[in-house]
Amino acid sequence: MNMSEAASPPSDVQPLLTRVATYFTEEKKQVRGFLTDGAAGVIMAVLKLQSEQGIRGNIAEIGTYHGKTFIGLALALRAEEHLLGVDLFEERGTDFEPNLRANYRAFGISDHKIRLHRGPSTGLSIPQWQALMQGPARFVHVDGDHTRKAVYHDLTLAASSLAPGGVILVDDVLHPWFPDVTLGFTDFLSHEQDLSVIALIDRQGPLINGGPKMLLSRRADLGRYRQILIEQMRPNIVREAMSDRHRILVMSSDQGVSWPKLV
Ligand SMILES: C[S@@+](CC[C@H](N)C(=O)[O-])C[C@H]1O[C@@H](n2cnc3c(N)ncnc32)[C@H](O)[C@@H]1O
Repeated sequence: MNMSEAASPPSDVQPLLTRVATYFTEEKKQVRGFLTDGAAGVIMAVLKLQSEQGIRGNIAEIGTYHGKTFIGLALALRAEEHLLGVDLFEERGTDFEPNLRANYRAFGISDHKIRLHRGPSTGLSIPQWQALMQGPARFVHVDGDHTRKAVYHDLTLAASSLAPGGVILVDDVLHPWFPDVTLGFTDFLSHEQDLSVIALIDRQGPLINGGPKMLLSRRADLGRYRQILIEQMRPNIVREAMSDRHRILVMSSDQGVSWPKLV
């Protein structure tokens, strides 16, 4: 790839990125769920890099809830890609799958781009997960069951289908209400030596709006994701921290978000 290819996305991707930017910066407020502006900015930067560098693959979210993050990810899908959502779809006896479906349809997302699996992700074996994924994933958001075992299991599923150049975003690591998530996350990292942390995205505002997230990639891909975050969100990088013998970006949006330029 030459530098001019790297600098601008292919023409068929630009309208997708424009739509993704509008959703994550503005329209996501209309959808119930948990996603801070700071985390939305990081997702946008990741999607920008994947478009510019031709990183292809399906997308998945474990724990869709009503679709706040899911819809933004769906808007980034290219023609040949789809989005898998795994959830129990039940909250206090109420089935919320119809809400999720109505929400994504309201943003013009067609059913044929979406695969939903109802049931605990922890009941899925790796072959079952891979059958649902129907191909490698360039982006997996892990935001389901917050127990130690489940987080470990879900990360193992995510890693089993990760496309070359893909990322895993993990919700609520270091969240004080969910210490088990942090334990499951560190269990996983100590087993998966090839995956490593790119950035810690700190919580923004009250914890109820969404906790910290960790962004992971294969070690070979750390450099390019670091670079896009530094280029696009420099004001939000408040320091670098040592983690597992390498430097990770620590990101905070308490003073506002420097939104990545997708258009
Ligand atoms: C914090 S919410 C997810 C928020 C969502 N990602 C967003 O952007 O708003 C957690 C979700 O995980 C789901 N969940 C809990 N345990 C699960 C399991 N074992 N398997 C799959 N989903 C699960 C819940 O039903 C809920 O919808």
